[in-house]
Amino acid sequence: MCGIVGYIGNRDAFPVVLNGLKRLEYRGYDSAGIALYDGTDIQMCKTQGKVADLEAKIQQNMPTKGTLGIGHTRWATHGVPNDVNSHPHYSNSGELVIIHNGIIENYASIKKELKKRGYTFTSDTDTEVLVNLIEDIKINEKVKLGKAVQIALNQVVGAYAIAVFDHNKPDEIVVAKLGSPLAIGIGDDEFFVASDATPFIEFTNNAIYLEDEEMAIVRRGREVKVRKIKGDSVVVPYVQELQLNLEQIEKGGYDHFMLKEIYEQPSVIKDTYRGRLLSDQGIIKLGGLDEYIEKFTNANRIIIVACGTSWHAGLVAEYIFEDLARIPVEVEYASEFRYRNPIITEKDVIIAISQSGETADTLAAIKLAKEKGAFVYGVCNVVGSTISRETHSGSYTHAGPEIGVASTKAFTTQITVLTMIALRLAKVKGTISQSDYMMHLHELETIPAKVEEALKSDENIKKISAVFKDARNFLYLGRGYNFPVALEGALKLKEISYIHAEGYPAAEMKHGPIALIDEQMPVVVIAVNSNHYEKVVSNIEEIKARKGKIIALVSEGDTAVKELADYVMEVPITPEALSPLVTTIPLQLLSYHIAVMLDRNVDQPRNLAKSVTVE
Ligand code: F6R
Repeated sequence: MCGIVGYIGNRDAFPVVLNGLKRLEYRGYDSAGIALYDGTDIQMCKTQGKVADLEAKIQQNMPTKGTLGIGHTRWATHGVPNDVNSHPHYSNSGELVIIHNGIIENYASIKKELKKRGYTFTSDTDTEVLVNLIEDIKINEKVKLGKAVQIALNQVVGAYAIAVFDHNKPDEIVVAKLGSPLAIGIGDDEFFVASDATPFIEFTNNAIYLEDEEMAIVRRGREVKVRKIKGDSVVVPYVQELQLNLEQIEKGGYDHFMLKEIYEQPSVIKDTYRGRLLSDQGIIKLGGLDEYIEKFTNANRIIIVACGTSWHAGLVAEYIFEDLARIPVEVEYASEFRYRNPIITEKDVIIAISQSGETADTLAAIKLAKEKGAFVYGVCNVVGSTISRETHSGSYTHAGPEIGVASTKAFTTQITVLTMIALRLAKVKGTISQSDYMMHLHELETIPAKVEEALKSDENIKKISAVFKDARNFLYLGRGYNFPVALEGALKLKEISYIHAEGYPAAEMKHGPIALIDEQMPVVVIAVNSNHYEKVVSNIEEIKARKGKIIALVSEGDTAVKELADYVMEVPITPEALSPLVTTIPLQLLSYHIAVMLDRNVDQPRNLAKSVTVE
């Protein structure tokens, strides 16, 4: 939710900040703005719309001089997306300039107080309130910017990553973090601040990730000073070496990041198990798990907390953990879990799944579980993210940066990690036979080739997409391991094509959704080889009898379903427990092609943001 970026050094800040915003646009894209400071004048340009609109506006009417700059790409929380509510925001005197990712929950009462003291507000944002609070403190308490920020942040409730500078201090940016991410890139006599490391990856490999309730004063040509916001103690920052490279965050010849990321799946799934899965030796080695294996084997149950696509990966994991490792699993929406006074004991293990590692609700669920004494294991993609730091241990998915807002490779790599965890636990607990265990290890290694094979049906899927692109509704059905895949297929279609779609367990159809079926209704049925195959065939018959249009996803060599279905998508035969890794692919492609045909903004669908750092 919102991306922030800043630069201070010796080069022109404008291109650094502008390119940084383009890379952060996945975090929010309803408006954008930049402020530049050349030591004399502050220049600011803001606009509703995308970073490209901002760039065009700046080209028309703003000088781009200055070696200090900050920029923001917004996902509106307080105040509609328009030019005025866009960031950066000035304080009343025009001396302070701020950008902010997060929500100041008590902004209304602070605003009331400030108004009584004569402050005026041009926007509806909580951020303009914060910058004026900082100004008020700076003037009344006669303190410098850093101290004023610190005092102000001790008065606010909410979440923030902020960057603020002062006209009187041309060599300094003050940043602070609580709840929203903030990375500081450390170059030679220059510094970068950003919501993640992508804006500065071509300039430096060294970064500090601020912890919650930390602030930093970033001064041109000096060391970064980090302090606690509460208590004021000095923090010695940990400088992390980044593993990103520029190629990973560019489109590489694909029309959209989403398509690139769909096609990356064979290689990133391999990256996920590389060095961890030694199939010939029958070994699964997961650094984060080995040390804590007894926490899992002694657990009463595993509770999985996540949101959206990551929650769907959790549902797949529920099947595989219960099936293979015989550990009871509950899968919870983090947003519900955190607010319903859940019963958690020290004998529970919590697995938090998150691509970004920044999702506010998942983070809050983790904190709650830790307070209640549970052991919390993270499955995250973004290295160094807040969730990866807040959990007791965990495994990274190694999917590389996922830029397309609709999650694709994050899902399959999450399932890959969770499958390895389940197999390792099953082995330790003795709930799986040696032959079954070895079969799954070897089969897991064949998944990248099978995903590659599934991707070859892209042209066929494109043709099917052309037939159904104008449908108003879709139904997605699956059973067992492929029920969560049906949910995920429906979510993908909804979020990027804006077509209403529902995922259902195939057998539940007759308890309600069957009423929706008529000749207008496309029904995507996952009917691959499984224990439920015959039952799914019966479900297909039921849909046919009501004239629904069947788009069936079948295993290679299928005959029965092919005869019944109107359209068929094929995937290689895969053991049931691993099948979601393959069946997901055609559904991703189907939603992608429909969205492209409808001329939707595939990588940045309306109303969404990649990283949901507000609750
Ligand atoms: C769907 C999607 C979202 C995310 C959800 C959780 O394509 O991207 O539903 O899965 O917001 O995000 P993470 O995994 O970053 O916690």
